[in-house]
Order: sequence, then C-alpha cells, then structure tokens
Amino acid sequence: MEKLSSIGRLEWLRNKILARKEKGLTEVHVCMTGCRAYGATGVLEALNEEVKSRGLSRQVEIRATGCHGFCAKAPVIAIEPMGVQYQEVTPDDAGEIVARTLKKNQLIDRLAYRTPKTFQPIFYRRPDPLLCQTGAPGPGQLRPD
Ligand code: FES
Repeated sequence: MEKLSSIGRLEWLRNKILARKEKGLTEVHVCMTGCRAYGATGVLEALNEEVKSRGLSRQVEIRATGCHGFCAKAPVIAIEPMGVQYQEVTPDDAGEIVARTLKKNQLIDRLAYRTPKTFQPIFYRRPDPLLCQTGAPGPGQLRPD
C-alpha cells in the first residue's frame, strides 16, 4: 500500500473505500500483524485462491489488516459487512469459509469464539462508534448470534 503523504490522498483513499462499500463488496479482513506468527499468511493466500477459483473476485476482496484485538485466538479474520469474526483459522478452512459463509451466508460454529461460561458460539462484532469508521474491531466487541 502506498504511503499517504497528504490530507488530499487520505481523503481520496476514504472515498475509494466508501465507493467500494456502496457496490456491496464483501471484505474479508485477515489480521497480518501478530497473527502472521500463527499462519495468517497462509490463510490470506488460501482465501485469495478460493475466491479466485470460485469466480468471486468481483464480489469479495481479501484484505490484509492490522490487529483485530483478539490476538490470543490467532489467526483472526473478520467478514464485512456481515460482522462475522472467526478465530484460529487455518488455510484448510478457506474453502469452507468461501463456500459456506461468503456464498451462502452460513456461519461456521467451530471457528467462532465461545463464551467461557456457556460455550455458546459468538459470531458477530458489536459496532463501536470509534472503531466502526476503520472497520477494526476491538476486544469486547462481540455479541451473541
Ligand atoms: S495480532 Fe491478530 S488479532 Fe491481534
């Protein structure tokens, strides 16, 4: 990604991102900071290959992002605008994520966070007025399905 050297370039990037969102593009955000140490690079590559091989490149964008705030469960991905967050994702999960979640809007239980008390899967992130502008979730932003 190019370095933004002016307010004008930042505004240009903002408008470009907003224009993509208006087209209904689904974005898969793959944490590529600490999660990289747990295999996020392979997850990113596998998701890109699956999206391409299934002809979804125009509808789905796989993006490398910063930390999602759920580092203990790396690698972490988030799917927007669905608001789905999956944890401990492996490259082997990519096919199922694309086939079920991206194509059929089905959630995958085994990739969801589970509450320590009830073991209920939690998929969705709660919107945060500060962080929703960046799309970056933080810890404590999960809510039950
Ligand atoms: S380092 Fe990936 S979620 Fe924090």
